[in-house]
Amino acid sequence: MVAGSRESRRRARRHLTGAVREQAAGRRPGRGSAGGPYDPELFGGEVAVPRVKVHPAVLLGRGGGEAAASGPDARAGAEPRGRRRGRRVPGARFSIPQPDIGTGVMTDTAQVTLEDIREAAARIEGVAHRTPVLRSRTLDALVGAEVFLKCENFQRIGAFKFRGAYNAAARLSPQARAAGIAAYSSGNHAQAIALAARELGTSAVILMPEDTPRSKKDATAGYGAEIVTYDRYTGDRVAIGEALAAERGLALIPPYEHPDVIAGQGTAALELIDEVGALDALVAPVGGGGLMAGSATAVKGLVPGARLIGVEPEAGNDTQRSLAAGSRVAVPVPRTIADGLAANIPGELTFSINQRLVDEIATVGDDEIRAAMRLVFERLKIVVEPSGAAALAALVTGRISPVPPRVGVIVSGGNISAQRFAELLAD
Ligand SMILES: Cc1ncc(COP(=O)(O)O)c(C=O)c1O
Repeated sequence: MVAGSRESRRRARRHLTGAVREQAAGRRPGRGSAGGPYDPELFGGEVAVPRVKVHPAVLLGRGGGEAAASGPDARAGAEPRGRRRGRRVPGARFSIPQPDIGTGVMTDTAQVTLEDIREAAARIEGVAHRTPVLRSRTLDALVGAEVFLKCENFQRIGAFKFRGAYNAAARLSPQARAAGIAAYSSGNHAQAIALAARELGTSAVILMPEDTPRSKKDATAGYGAEIVTYDRYTGDRVAIGEALAAERGLALIPPYEHPDVIAGQGTAALELIDEVGALDALVAPVGGGGLMAGSATAVKGLVPGARLIGVEPEAGNDTQRSLAAGSRVAVPVPRTIADGLAANIPGELTFSINQRLVDEIATVGDDEIRAAMRLVFERLKIVVEPSGAAALAALVTGRISPVPPRVGVIVSGGNISAQRFAELLAD
């Protein structure tokens, strides 16, 4: 996690003070209605940001100074704290605390491993669902391959996000966990953290833009989380989230820039290969890149020759461009129906993993995503949200060539309201 500058933290506190705080108490549990958009203010502007590897300790909010975002010893087995120096990132509005490892460069050993994913799988067993793998003859014929759909729309909270959220929350030290968890998200990660906290017998505070649709706030509050809102047009959700976590002594779990979140997300691909055997390729959607980083680590660890194919919306191909450029590139904040994939710059940790393991990125348009949603609804009778249909859309529209003979697809989520689903499929 990046640390905000003194000024941005001061601004963040101001926002917090004026924020509307909504108590969850008394709300009935409900299901989410949609994956939330990535807030543009999360990112540092439309600039190419030089690649900086950040030690996981930093991502976990254990960076030193005022900005340390997480509660004490946020991660179980945490190394002792040390002095961290802030480093200014050109074009970004914040400085990144540097790790105490001499050069400031993270080694591969600090990244996520197949073993981490196996451990995450053991940790989530019996709490997360082992989701079904669905097949369709029509689909196979259409694509000209054996297609295996790993259906995370059947995961708890309706998306794969519960895997990473629960794994990261369960990895907290007992003291940090007892102090409570904070997260910033208006989408699936919000509900995932809320449910993970409930499962672990602790509390969650979720920072959401004040104009988040009521249904999403209710779904998150329904799992027992407290919701704190901020103005998305003037506030920086990372800085406000860090200030909130610091003020209350909470462990901040970000949506993808976190090794335990990434390891948890990798468990879907692990289960898929465990169930169907070796694949020639895996196709997964890419937003901030956490799902892809975890999936790629699992698949390349188990089947080194498999092709890893990420899918982004045409308007939000930041990872595709970053891979081509060899460093993280920001694109204008994308307009797409796939709100969970609307990141405009890859995460630092996720990009460092994806750069090493992902073979290619395909892009899809909104109409192609809609067509894939319709296809799985009509043929497999399943409801998938736009972000969840993107990977399949790339496969059925011929954006992936050559077609891998045995291909796994992560259908990442199904959180969409009946009204929005009908609207998207109507035209
Ligand atoms: C349904 C769905 N699919 C895919 C993604 C992208 O995941 P990541 O940000 O880990 O790349 C998200 C993120 O919110 C999502 O909600």
